[in-house]
Amino acid sequence: MSLHHTTHHEESLAVEHWARAADSYPYYRVLSEHPTPAEVVVDGRQAVNAASTDYLGLARDGRVTEAAARAAARHGTSCSGSPLISGTRTIHREFEEELAAFLNRPAVTLTATGYQANLALACLFGEQQVVVSDRHNHASLVDAVRLGRAMGRTYRHNDAAHLDKVLRDATRDGRTPVILTESVFSVQGDLLDVPAVTASARRHDATLIIDRAHDIGVLGEGGPGGSNHAFPDESADIVTGTFSKALGSVGGFVAGSVEVSHVIRHYGRAAVFSASIPPAAVAAARAALRILQEEPEHRTALTDVSAQLHDGLARLGHPRTAWPGPIVALPVDGGAKTCMSAWRALLDRGVFAAAFVPPAAPRPLMRFSVTAAHTPAQVDGMLQAISDVLDVSPSLPGPRPRAATTGTSS
Ligand SMILES: Cc1ncc(COP(=O)(O)O)c(C=O)c1O
Repeated sequence: MSLHHTTHHEESLAVEHWARAADSYPYYRVLSEHPTPAEVVVDGRQAVNAASTDYLGLARDGRVTEAAARAAARHGTSCSGSPLISGTRTIHREFEEELAAFLNRPAVTLTATGYQANLALACLFGEQQVVVSDRHNHASLVDAVRLGRAMGRTYRHNDAAHLDKVLRDATRDGRTPVILTESVFSVQGDLLDVPAVTASARRHDATLIIDRAHDIGVLGEGGPGGSNHAFPDESADIVTGTFSKALGSVGGFVAGSVEVSHVIRHYGRAAVFSASIPPAAVAAARAALRILQEEPEHRTALTDVSAQLHDGLARLGHPRTAWPGPIVALPVDGGAKTCMSAWRALLDRGVFAAAFVPPAAPRPLMRFSVTAAHTPAQVDGMLQAISDVLDVSPSLPGPRPRAATTGTSS
């Protein structure tokens, strides 16, 4: 094969072969049915969905699906080209304005995915800058730095004191600093230390960019014009996000000043050289944004099930996290195969979880997420499966699969 090929790829392929033979391959599974936002059918058996980020359950809300169907009927299924050349539809412009009001920013640019929103940021990173990134940042933010022309530096996860030090060192030669972080971190589910990181940004006169993929609809008041308590208007210069989580759709955005919007629209290659987000996806996200502002009960339900999950884990002996959000990540001692065996054991107990192995995470872990659609009984079922399969005792270096489920380790 003449493609780029590494030892790592070979090892990964061997693990895939092993996992498929053991019926423990967690990835690209076909969910043959999806009866409710909280349930899936995998391999013919019904399971509680603990691998979804449809936080408010809106991807299955009739008002959202109908809005998508109506938009497809009215505007067609595709804009058939990039927004720069082929134009968009009224619905795109209206939604950009609504999102700008929701986020309290002068301008919003839509992109086809959240990944592309972040990649488009690369055009803002020039040779005279240094981009300082949290070490847990999502791949799309990492790739934006790789694609840009600025120097890249990283700081210890959510550690504002280390951020300060990195900023001090990296700006000695006169570079202008940019800080790149997530609001709620996608793998571990923890919350950005907003006051400390914001203060650090102000101290160093740094541009602060926050990817809000996992907090929109999850945190705060969410009322018109006010994004929420956790992210006051002044906390970031530029905000990116996705519609593929609480907004029940697909697509992304970059929000900031009119100048930022101009640069993204003309030089952000991932936004310029890729087709517009389809009208149906815009309509779905727009309907969901209205629902989440008008019906706070969805967020309340999410807060309740998240608290139930965290309380249950605490009863199992897992140390409490600072913020009881909808994502919980439990490290799994051992290699990728051990993690995949544990994933299968969870599925056998009716829980479809998300297995993360390197390089997606520095060490293997099992991620569980809940949504407003989960019932208390379903969360109890998740907790029972976790206690059967994983040892979450704080005396261990990290939760690890119980002996019965370890099978093979890599
Ligand atoms: C923090 C973060 N940013 C960006 C993305 C990419 O969003 P999308 O799925 O819309 O491409 C994700 C998706 O997993 C994410 O978790």
